[in-house]
Amino acid sequence: MNAPLRSHGDVGEGLPAELAIVVPAYNEKSNVPLLVEAVAAALPDVRWEIVFVDDDSPDGTATEVRRLALADPRVRVIHRYGRRGLSSACVEGIMATAAPVVAVMDADLQHDERILGAMFARLGQGDVDLVVGSRYVEGGGMGEWSKRRVAMSRFATALSQRLTRTPIGDPMSGFFMLRRDIFLSALPNLSSVGFKILLDIAASTPEPLRVAEVPYTFRTRQHGESKMDALVLWEYLQLLLDKMFGHIIPPRFIGFVMVGTTGVIVHFATLLLLRELTGDNFRTAQTIATLVATSSNFFLNNILTYRDQRLKGIQLAIGWLTFNIVCSVGALTNVNIATYLFANHHTLWVSALAGIAVTTVWNYAMSSIFTWRK
Ligand code: GDD
Ligand code: MN
Repeated sequence: MNAPLRSHGDVGEGLPAELAIVVPAYNEKSNVPLLVEAVAAALPDVRWEIVFVDDDSPDGTATEVRRLALADPRVRVIHRYGRRGLSSACVEGIMATAAPVVAVMDADLQHDERILGAMFARLGQGDVDLVVGSRYVEGGGMGEWSKRRVAMSRFATALSQRLTRTPIGDPMSGFFMLRRDIFLSALPNLSSVGFKILLDIAASTPEPLRVAEVPYTFRTRQHGESKMDALVLWEYLQLLLDKMFGHIIPPRFIGFVMVGTTGVIVHFATLLLLRELTGDNFRTAQTIATLVATSSNFFLNNILTYRDQRLKGIQLAIGWLTFNIVCSVGALTNVNIATYLFANHHTLWVSALAGIAVTTVWNYAMSSIFTWRK
């Protein structure tokens, strides 16, 4: 696989790109040269550049992109270190170009690059702000997706269509094109969590977007593997909640609270179980249940809420310890505040809830400083 060497007579050689194609890529080494070749073939009449955003993939994707970039200056690389995330990769790729029009597409050739020309032409007509490569409009298709994934995708689609004021047939698509100034207008409201950057953008612009869709059929991946796992659902939920509550609450806090809620369930489950075993020793049971629930919160937060900066090895052990300390102080605060309010004639509910609320904020703030510090 050789880099498509830039031949003389390419359109507008030496002039700035009019279209930037932003490609998030993680472990896509063997797809990268194929994609560059395919894009070059698909856009003979457009001055384009392609910006790969790699998160330090272990397979050396960034090295491969650099190799191609040496042969063709239209190829560019953003090599991020110590971070992961599809949405944030797309955002940073878009921010790194001067081209007036940007497209986002996957590196794995599942998005059909042959419609890029049609998308660019459609946007050029000037009556729309966003063109989406869509699997759900007439002429589009899901390719070889499993029934389960098709059903899940449809469900998520229906949900997000309620969320955005912009009617998009395929809001979950990772394949779209828009003017850069439109993207910039969405920037202050972006959540940038998870995988759904298009949905995020469409829900974040001050004005509803005017949208056109160009159909394509989702291809089957030939090289490498999908990074989607059960956690995308979690991230999707976080994105929806963040969009619903606006920017008052940080998405990570929402994740933290959701995990905390599961902790309550874990606590009671453990307590009930131990009560069966230890009989009347409530103190022991309560102590163990607290430890179990705190640990479960710690591990879930590490996997979900702080997915992008997950602690491992010795860091994990230290993290567990600091989290327990933070939560112990939090629990003390909780008891003190609630007791104080209750003594000052507030109802039982108000006192208890105030205690819980203050503690949650405390635990969140302190664990973000001492446990997942970055
Ligand atoms: N930089 C970076 N960092 N890139 C990532 C990361 C990450 O953490 N995770 C995934 N990617 C890249 C992949 O390398 C690929 O180019 C693209 O993002 C999509 O990831 P896949 O793992 O191939 O996802 P998929 O095929 O299951 O789903 C895709 O297609 C759907 C339909 O268009 C995604 O784009 C979905 O968002 C989209 O809905
Ligand atoms: Mn894919």
